[in-house]
Amino acid sequence: MNKIYVWDLPTRLFHWGLVALVAFQWLSGEFEDELLEFHLLGGYAILALVAFRLLWGFVGGQYARFGNFLRGVGPTLEYARALRAKTAPRYLGHNPLGGWMIVALLAMLALQGVTGLFASDEVLGGGPLRHLVSERLGEILTELHEGSFNVLIMLVVVHVASILAHRLFKGEDLVRPMLTGYKESGEEAKKQ
Ligand code: HEM
Repeated sequence: MNKIYVWDLPTRLFHWGLVALVAFQWLSGEFEDELLEFHLLGGYAILALVAFRLLWGFVGGQYARFGNFLRGVGPTLEYARALRAKTAPRYLGHNPLGGWMIVALLAMLALQGVTGLFASDEVLGGGPLRHLVSERLGEILTELHEGSFNVLIMLVVVHVASILAHRLFKGEDLVRPMLTGYKESGEEAKKQ
């Protein structure tokens, strides 16, 4: 078995930084009265990470590029069918379903961050751009900011469950490569 360097350092730092920040945003959102200032800083950091990842998707390492793992509807459905039939090929980078999950996660994180800029808290203040929108729009964006966090958490649950399922049903540990950068490349690995 050869070891192949799949996840470059920026991608790994992005990932684990994001995990820590989402956890922190959850906590600081729950204790908003005391931690609003830090919640805002965490929000800026997440927006910066998402912006970085969008850029990295075009100029980053081979397996980090969107062109490497984003597939059209046909190939994605084909992969899903193969998964059900237990004949899905192994991918070194993200598989087609995982690729779309990443798009969904990034989109929800961006939505969270952007709506947070305009969200308002009657007592404590709120996002730095809240003065730019009407009161009604501010209310809508605040509700969206709060409600869409639940959607983000649901996506994260599916994300982690599929990584666990990979471990249980395919016997492949995906977490270690996200820590070390290296994957073992068997003969069957689809190198993309
Ligand atoms: C707040 C929680 C999380 C978020 C927002 C998140 C988001 C993401 C994103 C955006 C990627 C794509 C990485 C890239 O190409 O840049 C990814 C991949 C990955 N994540 Fe997470 N993640 C979260 C939690 C976790 C946890 C708790 C684990 C470990 C159990 C995990 C394990 C992985 C692995 C192994 C991959 C690579 C999957 C593959 O091999 O295709 N993630 N995650």
